[in-house]
Amino acid sequence: MSLRYLVLSGPNLHRLGRREPSIYGSQTLDEIHADLAAFAAGRGVELECRQSNHEGALVEWIGAAGDEGFSGVVFNPGAYTHTSYALYDAVRAADVPVVEVHLSNPDAREPFRRKSCIAPACVGRVAGFGAHSYRLGLEALLLGRGPG
Ligand code: DQA
Repeated sequence: MSLRYLVLSGPNLHRLGRREPSIYGSQTLDEIHADLAAFAAGRGVELECRQSNHEGALVEWIGAAGDEGFSGVVFNPGAYTHTSYALYDAVRAADVPVVEVHLSNPDAREPFRRKSCIAPACVGRVAGFGAHSYRLGLEALLLGRGPG
């Protein structure tokens, strides 16, 4: 059976395509998911992609990821990146590695985006490469957790 990965997107990412395209690009989240699924199939792994505007749903999905048989999570927490200690705790408690991804580069934007509550709990972070950030995040999970 092939390895399965969970791809999670947080608040307002359901509006990609129409939401500030000069920052986030013109692809919809469904289109990004379709491209990612094709990439994953080429690498012999399966994906499940979910989006929620609700912090609690994201907490529950991260907490259940191991029991649901996922080998890792690619996670774009949206604005919860900058506010959510509940998601930090969820990622710390997760049974599987989580990679934080962003379409934009939050460090090059408003000052409030320079803080990630979640990054310290993640195995790593990819930001600033548009939709490619999701693919690079998945690739990082497929590579494993580095030397050793
Ligand atoms: C984002 C960056 C966040 O700062 C922002 O709140 C988002 C999208 C990104 O993918 O670039 O909603 O996570």
